[in-house]
Amino acid sequence: LDNGLARTPPMGWNDWNAFGCNVTEQLVEQTADYLVSSGLKDDGYTYVNIDDCWMSASRDANGNLVPDPAKFPDGISGVAAYVHSKGLKLGIYESAGTATCAGYPGSLNHEQQDADSFAAWGVDYLKYDNCNNQGVPYQQRYDAMRDALAATGRPIVFSMCEWGDDSVWTWGAATGNLWRTTGDINASFSSMLSNFHTNVGLAQYAGPGAWNDPDMLEVGNGMSFTEDRSEFSLWAEMAAPLISGTDLRSASAATLSLYGDKDVIAVDQDSLGKQGTEISSSGGLDVLTKPLSNGDVAVTLFNENSSAATISTTASAAGLPAAASYTLDNLWSHTKATTSGAVSATVPAHGTVMYRISAGSATTTGTTHPLIGASSN
Ligand code: DGJ
Repeated sequence: LDNGLARTPPMGWNDWNAFGCNVTEQLVEQTADYLVSSGLKDDGYTYVNIDDCWMSASRDANGNLVPDPAKFPDGISGVAAYVHSKGLKLGIYESAGTATCAGYPGSLNHEQQDADSFAAWGVDYLKYDNCNNQGVPYQQRYDAMRDALAATGRPIVFSMCEWGDDSVWTWGAATGNLWRTTGDINASFSSMLSNFHTNVGLAQYAGPGAWNDPDMLEVGNGMSFTEDRSEFSLWAEMAAPLISGTDLRSASAATLSLYGDKDVIAVDQDSLGKQGTEISSSGGLDVLTKPLSNGDVAVTLFNENSSAATISTTASAAGLPAAASYTLDNLWSHTKATTSGAVSATVPAHGTVMYRISAGSATTTGTTHPLIGASSN
């Protein structure tokens, strides 16, 4: 959506995957505090997003949505003020239907009134779900909220959550800043893999302001560390939104090391805004490449199988120009190597190896220096 927002994939947190309906003001504010104290805010995690179940069971006498006073004693405006005071942004949830999935009042036919409430409260992001839609055509329902948000004059990221129905990717860029391409993810390798497979073929529809959304990150919620690392790598490679769905306040150091990997985040957030594509995919061994703004490419080698395998490609297949040598920067081990073109690694079961590859050689230790690379050709 050309509203000036989400020029790179949104980053942040959402309560749903870890807490379901148990969302409270305290949880949201503690998470905001944690994003600041952990350094994740500085890494780019900006949006603190409230999902379903924040409302009272019915609208007030004037038809306005009412935050549940037990869960949000200071209202959404109070939470927004708190989150803003930390330099972060607040997201909220509604459904393009007569009720949310959990049964709270929906926004269908209340679009402008509800968008006005969100804007008045200081909301910066709306996740707009698809439950109880009464069969009203998709585009009609989502366009109505897009226009209502625009009419408020407040910049609000519009996240469409219609589960990939109606081939949303073919019309999504005109309506929303991101759109779900799949049903709900859960914290299992098979679920993550299924969402990956659906999302990976949709690269042509994504770009600045308009992203395919394979759902929130389950990193930290129960997959193995290797699997968590695959999810984070693949989502970054696909320029997916990086919205953590775990309880960050109690996350392990290992989990935080994934969310906080600056090199992998930089791949996701690259200003070119290209979603990575598959160079090859056979026998459960996948090679993806993503062009980056400085001419490098990010290559991800992903092993879907339950035993280790060697996965190989070349710099040329990954889209780099001919050169005498290339630097392979391993984004998880943080080691560099030089190659004349072969790119190959032993990848553990369910694991991923991720490289940033640039033309030219670099020393195997220390920071890549573009001039060193260039002069060696
Ligand atoms: C369905 C969505 O796909 C989920 O992400 C979550 O928002 C739930 N609805 C909330 O009811």
